[in-house]
Amino acid sequence: MNIASLSEYDVDDVVALWREVDLTRPWNDPVADYRRAMEGPTSTVLGATDDGRLVGSIMVGHDGHRGWVYYLAVRAVEQRHGVGTALMSAAEAWLRERGAVKVQLMLRSENTATRHFYDALGYEFNDVSVLSRRLDH
Ligand SMILES: CC(C)(COP(=O)(O)OP(=O)(O)OC[C@H]1O[C@@H](n2cnc3c(N)ncnc32)[C@H](O)[C@@H]1OP(=O)(O)O)[C@@H](O)C(=O)NCCC(=O)NCCS
Repeated sequence: MNIASLSEYDVDDVVALWREVDLTRPWNDPVADYRRAMEGPTSTVLGATDDGRLVGSIMVGHDGHRGWVYYLAVRAVEQRHGVGTALMSAAEAWLRERGAVKVQLMLRSENTATRHFYDALGYEFNDVSVLSRRLDH
């Protein structure tokens, strides 16, 4: 397995993967999300490939204060073989190289299965509320 930054041409494969593992939501445009992450110097999407086939991906970015990861996804048939752990480790390395001292992520409260995954990686639950407001309309 190889993990590296993807390119603009991988958008269809990545969005198909996000859809397969139910990470897309009607209020977000996944193609726009992918392109935005690929355009700037402070973010990217890393892909895990096996024989050239995309098996997983993760979006990673540094906002100048903290590192964030989004859209971690592993193909259903490839799960529980360490791909998710390897992607998190690659994202952490990407952030460390850019000076980040902390990485965080948002986990939907209904995604209880994934809590075990982050627990296994040593991620701690922070008792904070996330507030947001759309700026695109
Ligand atoms: C979360 C996800 C990325 C994990 O990827 P993965 O490749 O299966 O993870 P790993 O094989 O590296 O798992 C490492 C450990 O995490 C824990 N773990 C992973 N998935 C788990 C699950 N569904 N239930 C319980 N524990 C789990 C286990 O301890 C596992 O080690 P083990 O297999 O030796 O028991 C994958 O399940 C996925 O794509 N889920 C759907 C999308 C999603 O929810 N993404 C996260 C959004 S915040």
